[in-house]
Amino acid sequence: MNNSLYIQLFSVHGLVRADNLEMGRDADTGGQINYVVELARSLSSMEGVRRVDLFTRLISDPRVSEDYAVPVEEVSDRFRIVRVQCGGKKYIRKELLWPHLDEYIDKVVKFIKRENAVPDVVHGHYADAGYVAMNLAHIFGTPFVFTGHSLGRSKREKLLGDGMREEEIIKKYRISHRINVEEEVLTSADLVITSTEQERDQQYGMYLNRETPRYSIIPPGLDIERFYPYYYDMLADGTRDEIRIQAQATVIGELNRFFTYPDRPLILALCRPDKRKNISGLIHVYGEDRELQAMANLAIFAGIRKDINSMEENERGVLTDMLLLMDKYDLYGKMAIPKKHEFEYQVPELYRLTAERNGVFVNVALTEPFGLTLIEASAAGVPIVATNDGGPRDILRNCKNGVLVDPADNAGISNAIKKIISENDLWTRYSQNGVVNVRKYYTWEAHVKKYHRELSALMKSWKQSDFSASLKTDAIGKRLAGLSYCIITDIDHTLIGDENEHLAELMRIISDNRDCLGFGVATGRTVESAVEHLEAHGVPAPDLVIASVGTEIYYGSSLIYDRGWDTHISNKWDRERVMGVLADVPFLELQEDEKQRNFKISYYMEPGKDRLAEVHNRLVRNRCRYTMIYSADSYLDILPFRASKGKAIRYFSYKWEVPLDHIMVCGDSGNDEEMLRGEPMGVVVGNYQRELEKLRGLRRIFFADGRNAAGIIEALAHYNIIEKARGNTGKHGKRP
Ligand code: GLC
Ligand code: MG
Repeated sequence: MNNSLYIQLFSVHGLVRADNLEMGRDADTGGQINYVVELARSLSSMEGVRRVDLFTRLISDPRVSEDYAVPVEEVSDRFRIVRVQCGGKKYIRKELLWPHLDEYIDKVVKFIKRENAVPDVVHGHYADAGYVAMNLAHIFGTPFVFTGHSLGRSKREKLLGDGMREEEIIKKYRISHRINVEEEVLTSADLVITSTEQERDQQYGMYLNRETPRYSIIPPGLDIERFYPYYYDMLADGTRDEIRIQAQATVIGELNRFFTYPDRPLILALCRPDKRKNISGLIHVYGEDRELQAMANLAIFAGIRKDINSMEENERGVLTDMLLLMDKYDLYGKMAIPKKHEFEYQVPELYRLTAERNGVFVNVALTEPFGLTLIEASAAGVPIVATNDGGPRDILRNCKNGVLVDPADNAGISNAIKKIISENDLWTRYSQNGVVNVRKYYTWEAHVKKYHRELSALMKSWKQSDFSASLKTDAIGKRLAGLSYCIITDIDHTLIGDENEHLAELMRIISDNRDCLGFGVATGRTVESAVEHLEAHGVPAPDLVIASVGTEIYYGSSLIYDRGWDTHISNKWDRERVMGVLADVPFLELQEDEKQRNFKISYYMEPGKDRLAEVHNRLVRNRCRYTMIYSADSYLDILPFRASKGKAIRYFSYKWEVPLDHIMVCGDSGNDEEMLRGEPMGVVVGNYQRELEKLRGLRRIFFADGRNAAGIIEALAHYNIIEKARGNTGKHGKRP
């Protein structure tokens, strides 16, 4: 019945809060922050959306407001800003966050688990949060939406163009890493949202994996950060202030060159030099009305030109007409036709200047389907006079800030302009209406509507294509998020041995209780070898495979790799050094190539006096950090100091919030000892190796009589785990 969406948005860097955004405070707190907050806010009030959580980073740092240290900011009953810590609590720039994103992912997983609410869709903003959302999408089997906001490849080009050296770019901006992540994100995004076609073609077009995702172009709501009203002071940011003052001076300087009385109200037109924009029509209106000329100056910004002769025909015609008409009506001193202007800073200043001078923005195009400039001008507080056609009609209906005219009716146009300029109250009302109503109608409404339509379509195709969905994921995350009990067993000589009479029975019990009981293995084998061996014995795909002596963790039948664990154990691991230090130890023989892994170096070693001590000595003397595990009198594994089967289980327990004492761990030999100790429900099967004898008598260790699977079945009854798990199913599948 409840088809509405729970959407998780991710925007990790910068300073994010619901109100009083500190736009422009630093390079990481810019347009994107405003975008995600507005998107979340507007989405959350839509029908068909039951909740939006915007995830960002938790920052607790005296240099920034305490607002950013609040873990959950309840903006409304359907919109929360959730702050998750990673890489400490200090406010650091986004380029330094990369190594901490796996920690971030793990904590989001915990959050989801604790809330017991899996999102319907995840949307990452910028490469960093794209990485986060991509991983969550894999774990939870949800669709993944990505918005780059800006991309590494184009940034690199731009910096190179500015003359910055490649090495410097890489060092300062971590650009190579960013680009790699973006490439990866594109291979797994289900939908990429861009603002314009040009962004899609030119920016995403630079990527090798550009063809993989589906794109949707959703123009942003108006950038109110640029088009703020004329009476606003700049934000407290020195650099941009400078730019603004400069831009303003340039604009004024440019106009004053043309005007005899620069302080008169300004009639502003700004458009491409295109015949359909009817610039000549406007000059006729102005040229024919002496009263109007006495009241106001006319400024026409028609694109940027160098040499009119070398321009394309349509444009050349428009510009030539413009000059000829100016001459014909002798508008020197009253009409400005600047050759160039700049978009980012000067255009907004131009609108604001027009407003300051009590002017009007005029667009008398022959047809006007949209009219973005009308919206921009309105946002800055300039009343408008525009053609009575599709775009302006909508805009004026919403904004109530000007007059619609017939582009062929010169007197009508002229009168409209004069009325607005001469009637002060009317001008003020239009100006205010524009400022207020653009913000109401053109910033978000249209944007979010389309966004929601795209999401709904995505969800629909996602649900229909069960097949592709199952290829991508078996939604293991959803399953794990609902579990609170789990069995994790060693494979060789514990689950599977020389006597497997009871294996099928054990598997049946586990399958029957799959809805409330997780099943995992922890083994010295590689993941490939483990899976093959389990299959050969008819054991269904586990929820969890801890492989290669705890150095790798995988989830579900599609074996989703846990990168969080990878990042965690890679700390202080120097594989080459360990290999080098042990290279000439006579009693060590390297195991076969396929048993060597990134985080596992394995040798064969016969037992011998002082041998283990000798290996330790060498490693310690050479300042290696490691874990060493010797088992079955023949295997010596060297792992990162943070890795082992037991630690992997603890990590799993932490990340998925399955309490350790809800996990039953089964083993048979020395390399299981560490994972059997402590809080879990330990099980030693009947056919155990004598080295485990020392665990006897420990409170949380059960010594079974049965061999292999039979021993595990005994333990199920001993710990009563099935009943406990069954009693815990109530919370499964709850919605927020
Ligand atoms: C498995 C692995 C081997 C490892 C041993 C002990 O047999 O294949 O590489 O040394 O377990 O952990
Ligand atoms: Mg074993």
